[in-house]
Amino acid sequence: MSCGKPDCLIHLENVWTTYEGAECPVIRDISFDIRAGEFVVIGGPNGAGKTTLLEAITGLLPIVRGSVTVCGMGVLNEATRARCSIGYVIQNFDFHPFTPYTVEEVVRMGRYGKIGWFRRETEEDVEAARDAMRTLRIDHLKDELIGKLSGGQQQKVLIAHNLAKKPSVLLLDEPYSNLDIRTRDEVSDILCRICDSGVPVMMVSHAFDSLPDRDIRVIVMQTGRLVLNTVSKPDNVANLIRSVPVAG
Ligand SMILES: Nc1ncnc2c1ncn2[C@@H]1O[C@H](COP(=O)(O)OP(=O)(O)OP(=O)(O)O)[C@@H](O)[C@H]1O
Ligand SMILES: [Mg+2]
Repeated sequence: MSCGKPDCLIHLENVWTTYEGAECPVIRDISFDIRAGEFVVIGGPNGAGKTTLLEAITGLLPIVRGSVTVCGMGVLNEATRARCSIGYVIQNFDFHPFTPYTVEEVVRMGRYGKIGWFRRETEEDVEAARDAMRTLRIDHLKDELIGKLSGGQQQKVLIAHNLAKKPSVLLLDEPYSNLDIRTRDEVSDILCRICDSGVPVMMVSHAFDSLPDRDIRVIVMQTGRLVLNTVSKPDNVANLIRSVPVAG
């Protein structure tokens, strides 16, 4: 069910989800709304369910109870259309050194959902990919094989792949984990500009030194439950997350 407010782009209502074969639900009874242009940090200890939450929003996991809508579309019953609207930079990626794709090809693949099976790439698709590479400052790597790059460079390629998609919502799982401090600041500026354009950014992170200078919605997960959902200034985010008592 959609939340009905025009600027609500992500809506979770009493969501329970799990992994195939898992004995009990991994996240339980999560509800929240994310509006256009919000910057959201998801925190909480390892194993709390942060990645699982993002995967529930992308429709990659079965929803046992409750509902998730993105841009008014149910992520399970309108999966194909909903996924075209979602950018998702995954937490763990591992490109084999001989993966036979160049950086430019990987970024252009970000357009495939929009292009569909029976259409050719247009100039707009090619330009969207080039624009994303310029934004991430990886255009000089365009002909390199993705598997031969450093972890940080690969991370930038994955972010560019998702920017090329021009998503309506952008989810990132620990996007700073492989990035040097200067690149974190650059990526933070890019994410800030994306928010300014109205696209909500939801980021799982354990690093809070490169947050954009704007109000941040802080969501804290613990043992599969949402234990804090509030808005904070960036310099108080780490304190807020630390202040949540650890479940016994
Ligand atoms: N594929 C899977 N199958 C079964 N259980 C899983 C699977 N992936 C994760 N889990 C379980 O779900 C729970 C939440 O995992 P999740 O990856 O969402 O945690 P997280 O908060 O993202 O942790 P981290 O900060 O370490 O990335 C953990 O108890 C984990 O063991
Ligand atoms: Mg995780």
